[in-house]
Amino acid sequence: MARAESEHELSRKRPLDASGVMIEHDLTAGKLDLPGVFDNDRLVEIEIGSGKGTFIVERSKLRPDLNLLGIEYAKAYCLYTGDRVKRNGLENVRMLCCDAGALFTDCLADQSVWRVHIYFPDPWPKRKHHRRRLIQPAFINQVRRTLKIGGQLLVVTDHFGYFQQIRQVLDSAEGFAETPRPIAGQTGEIVGTNFERKYISQGRLFYSAGLLRYR
Ligand SMILES: C[S@@+](CC[C@H](N)C(=O)[O-])C[C@H]1O[C@@H](n2cnc3c(N)ncnc32)[C@H](O)[C@@H]1O
Repeated sequence: MARAESEHELSRKRPLDASGVMIEHDLTAGKLDLPGVFDNDRLVEIEIGSGKGTFIVERSKLRPDLNLLGIEYAKAYCLYTGDRVKRNGLENVRMLCCDAGALFTDCLADQSVWRVHIYFPDPWPKRKHHRRRLIQPAFINQVRRTLKIGGQLLVVTDHFGYFQQIRQVLDSAEGFAETPRPIAGQTGEIVGTNFERKYISQGRLFYSAGLLRYR
């Protein structure tokens, strides 16, 4: 499978050093102490599925005033991103290797997060695998619980079928209003992920949604 090969490639090329960036948290150990993780109480943005880390690295350069937590369950990608963060000397990023669903459900406190970025989540295109998709009603309820009032959830996918499901889930979620999601390359605010940059250069379509928690 392409991902397994590229994960292997990532760790084979050269030794990676993500020390000081990678954090650990036992998902059965209760809430993650976010101010403790960053040693300050700045606003926290979470990127779910950081992949090779382009978004979180560029976001960190753009917004050193924020704390950025990347959640990535593929260990090799997590280490690779942590190594990129470290080589760039970025102090406001931490990476956690775990399942985002479990983290949001069990380990994030109410109203502790300012923004959640989900870019190109795995689409699980086969019908029998749809239940593995991240964006489901129960998960979005957890995202809402953990967002501060005024906080945002930003989602982008290139998979139209998944986007239709995402729209249904988001449209029926309580307590959110629509908010525009800036397009990468058209604003200094959102920098774009690896996938987004590639698809823009190929002229490929993708779909985005932005929600703001208002209550
Ligand atoms: C298609 S890739 C997109 C990577 C990156 N966001 C981008 O746009 O370039 C999806 C990434 O999400 C990660 N991922 C998928 N489900 C996850 C979950 N439940 N928790 C943490 N990471 C997840 C995968 O390991 C993969 O690296």
